[in-house]
Amino acid sequence: MSEPLAAEVARRRTFAIISHPDAGKTTLTEKLLLFGGAIQLAGEVKAKKDRMNTRSDWMKIERERGISVVTSVMTFEYGDHVFNLLDTPGHEDFADDTYRTLTAVDAAIMVIDAAKGIEPRTLKLFEVCRLRDIPIVTFINKMDRESRDPFEILDEVEQKLALDTAPMTWPIGRGKSFSGTYHLSDNTIRRSDAEEQTTSVNGPESDAVAGLLPENERKAFIEECSLAMEACRPFDSQAFLEGHLTPVYFGSALRNFGVRDLINALGRYAPPPRDQIADTRKVAATDEKMSAFVFKIQANMDPNHRDRIAFVRVCSGKLQRGMKARLARTGKPMSLSAPQFFFAHQRQLADTAYAGDVVGIPNHGTLRIGDTLTDGEHLVFKGVPNFAPEILRRVRLEDAMKAKKMKEALAQMAEEGVVQLFQPEDGSPPLVGVVGALQLDVLKARLEAEYGLPVSFELARFNVCRWISSADKAELERFVTVKRGDIARDLDGDPVFLASDGFSLNYEAERWKAIKFDAIKEYQ
Ligand code: G4P
Repeated sequence: MSEPLAAEVARRRTFAIISHPDAGKTTLTEKLLLFGGAIQLAGEVKAKKDRMNTRSDWMKIERERGISVVTSVMTFEYGDHVFNLLDTPGHEDFADDTYRTLTAVDAAIMVIDAAKGIEPRTLKLFEVCRLRDIPIVTFINKMDRESRDPFEILDEVEQKLALDTAPMTWPIGRGKSFSGTYHLSDNTIRRSDAEEQTTSVNGPESDAVAGLLPENERKAFIEECSLAMEACRPFDSQAFLEGHLTPVYFGSALRNFGVRDLINALGRYAPPPRDQIADTRKVAATDEKMSAFVFKIQANMDPNHRDRIAFVRVCSGKLQRGMKARLARTGKPMSLSAPQFFFAHQRQLADTAYAGDVVGIPNHGTLRIGDTLTDGEHLVFKGVPNFAPEILRRVRLEDAMKAKKMKEALAQMAEEGVVQLFQPEDGSPPLVGVVGALQLDVLKARLEAEYGLPVSFELARFNVCRWISSADKAELERFVTVKRGDIARDLDGDPVFLASDGFSLNYEAERWKAIKFDAIKEYQ
């Protein structure tokens, strides 16, 4: 491996922020980008969120709802590191994309609202991170507001997520009296009105700390902070990298306090691009040969061009502008003439991208989600999974004459990852599956705008979907035959079992012991 390649890989950190809506992800993103100089003024990301993402406002529903449907990537440099922040939609509605994005990161920041603790969306996204043991840095946000007891929050993380916690800082005061953090490992403090300044102190009892707190809060702080130092787990790098332990920082994104801790933690503790598993071998990020996979397709980013951008995570080697790559699924060569980097506002042609980087590749439907690109080698990454949809609907076409066109359009949408498509074995109309209701609106709007196909959705009698497999092929065949009315095929022709609810699913799983019912399917 050449030195410059290894050095470029070592300085990259590719991460996402996971949180429940309103916990402060947008505010934090903005402050992170501010550190990286990617934006000039705080307020730009927020303004963009409020005003809608102009770059992607091609679709009416985005304008109507005032949200961005796009999961974007933002690259910035800070210190010696290059950070690739993969954004996941913060709105109540979310999509398969949100899950898939987490398969393209090496670490995540989990933002928790100090008053609310672990909320449902955080839990869900955490579970996806856990599938790949992604290391997580925790940020307890909004300490400047009324908040819960820090020990209680740590306990909740441990209980609900089965994740060990190692507090790295301790809040000095809470709500109105929040005035800084105490750094547990080196007995220093930072004041929220002068974060740049680190002051060494003799311990939680020191006068410098006392001076920051109202008199009636001092005793409690000393007790709490001493207890945190004695009783909490120390940070353990190995446990963090294995996804078993999270370092915890307290702060206020709004006041831009504690954000520097996070960015430093990512630089210092988070892993560089991880090795990726392919069908033929393990691919090290420092491997000279280029390899990459597609984890997201974004259509119509530019309303004038009706282009499709495939978001590709580079896994090894150098992805260079103008190179010819091999598309594993077809075996055909593909010229990468205009790969792009994304910054907070603009795109820029990418001359060279390294492992961990995310580039956008404009194409006209050649690339699908899960596709592997190499510089010639025959290998396929197993990295991008399908998650069982949580909402299933039957698509009703208003003009029955256009059935064939609709079949093609739905297949195209499924390849792009807008929805998942299931063809029932009994020949009834196709079902679409999504994890967030917004995806249905996107599908409807796009079928109408791009294919001239007005559709509506009907409730299906199914609400649960599982991929089925078995080591005993005959038994699988028997199951598929017996349950024909409840079996459908996905886009790749793999069988799924459809059930009305979790109860019936469990009932069948009990009866058919040799059949595996999976909520996740790896691509390819
Ligand atoms: P999200 O992307 O996770 O949905 O959250 P976002 O950053 O939009 O923050 C949600 C709300 O919480 C915003 O208030 C934001 O200003 C506020 N907030 C974020 N971080 C902090 C913090 O550290 N302290 C306090 N006190 N508030 C915080 P909003 O009223 O919805 O919007 P705005 O009108 O204030 O912009």
